[in-house]
Amino acid sequence: MPANTTTAALGATGQPDAVPAEAVTPLMRGIAVLRHLTEAGGTLSPSGLERATGLARSTIDRITSTLARMGYVRLDGRDAVLTPRLMELGNAYLSALRLPALLAARADELADELDESVSLAVGDRDGIRFIHQATRRRAMSLSFRIGDLLPAERTAPGPLFAAEWSDDDWTRWRARRAADPQDRAFPAVPPREHPHPDEEFEQRAAQAAADGWALDDQLIEPGLVAVAAPVRDPRTGQVACVASVVSHTSRHTAAGLRDTLLPRLRAAVTDMERELRESPPPEPAAPPSGLATWTGASKQELGREFVESLARGLTVLTAFGEGRAELTLTEVAKATGLARATARRALITYEHLGLVRPAPHRTFTLTPRVLSLGFPPLSRTTLSQIATPHLADLSTRVHESASLAVLSPSGEEIQYTARVATIRVMSVNITVGTRLPAYATSMGRVMLADVPEQARVLGELKALTPRTVTDPAALSATLDEVRAQGYALVDEELEEGLRSIAVPVRDRTGRVVAAVNVAMHAARHTADECVHDILPELRATAAGIEADLHVAGRFTRVSAA
Ligand code: PHB
Repeated sequence: MPANTTTAALGATGQPDAVPAEAVTPLMRGIAVLRHLTEAGGTLSPSGLERATGLARSTIDRITSTLARMGYVRLDGRDAVLTPRLMELGNAYLSALRLPALLAARADELADELDESVSLAVGDRDGIRFIHQATRRRAMSLSFRIGDLLPAERTAPGPLFAAEWSDDDWTRWRARRAADPQDRAFPAVPPREHPHPDEEFEQRAAQAAADGWALDDQLIEPGLVAVAAPVRDPRTGQVACVASVVSHTSRHTAAGLRDTLLPRLRAAVTDMERELRESPPPEPAAPPSGLATWTGASKQELGREFVESLARGLTVLTAFGEGRAELTLTEVAKATGLARATARRALITYEHLGLVRPAPHRTFTLTPRVLSLGFPPLSRTTLSQIATPHLADLSTRVHESASLAVLSPSGEEIQYTARVATIRVMSVNITVGTRLPAYATSMGRVMLADVPEQARVLGELKALTPRTVTDPAALSATLDEVRAQGYALVDEELEEGLRSIAVPVRDRTGRVVAAVNVAMHAARHTADECVHDILPELRATAAGIEADLHVAGRFTRVSAA
């Protein structure tokens, strides 16, 4: 793919718009790096980035070290890898939009009721982009991610959005079709094999306008069928997003979907529209603070390797959010602490790149394209992927093995889901997947301590060593203590010679979803040293994992492994 297809938007003439004189070149380059990393699935080598962007190696290095400083990529050896923190940009768009916060629960309920996948999509110029997915996919077919962009004409929602297109929109669509007949600019879909005449989609759009629903009969790939209905904005009457029920021909034909499931989809859409009508306006979230000071300090420290105009420009996207969907230049400058001229040039750059568009009353708003900055691959990040780099750092600092575990469904065992080992300290070889009894492990105890006493399943309390606590009342008292102090230290209760200390990992709601620990030979550190030297490091690690988890889990469900 030519380097510029993902960086410049096609203008109304179907040609890329000229770069405005005031656009910030380092910001455009940084955005290009993020987009190419996204399309590559989240990781690229420096030479891969050079090839994809056409930029010089020294430029790539400065951009990736700036993005690393911001926490948006990490450098794994020489590769640049997108981090969950980058999802804060997509989160800014999704929270400003509010539709996921207001409608996702209804989409999930519908998916449960129908036992089929349900998605929400918004229009993105001549494409559609997913903002929510309640996936129940069994048969072999593609499943799309939040942020994936699809060509409108190959989807069920597309004709419903196209029913509202302007002449300019249709011109842009025809130019794109002529320039890219195989949909190469849409990496989420298989290349188009059979050309469909333009008139076909024009007719589907007209029909969708008349019917108020639309079908996808295997336009993306054989077997994949969908029926879609628009959710209208109560104030403007325009399509705010489109809800789709997605199935497979092994369960429903496209016509069958329309006959059996469309009525229930429409009932759900009516509920969604009521939700939009009746929900009170959002309380404006607090804008970010201190960003300009931070970028200045980073410049001082890193010098040439820190591209301040890129860092400053990126902070502009985070000025938007819930209750902050439309901001004036003054508001953007105030929220970011940037000079007006700097904020203005960043907004001009973003408008050129199609990431920001002007809104009424001299304001600006984010576009769905902000999701193209990392969201699709990162929206599938698991807790164990989030934890692994943090565990590796911890293990390097304390020179001991570090692990993450979750409670098994029965609640009796812990299951290791991530691990960075130095030396082997246990007689059993612990690997990802290993299960151990929860009551006798430090990680098990921090997780059990969060479970209400009457809901705890402990299983049989066997003496694994002479020191194992086996008396239920004593264990219960220990768990109370663990909850109060926020960590568990288990001293030779699981295995003689083994000492381990663990702290909880909490999700956005404060629930304990996992634990992290450091395990060591009892001879290497006293119990006091564990608490004084290792516990602070362990807590810092848990805090780092939680920060990533809270960003990643804002609009997606982060699975354990
Ligand atoms: C999906 O959510 O995966 C989906 C939605 C509409 C389509 C195809 C797939 O037309």
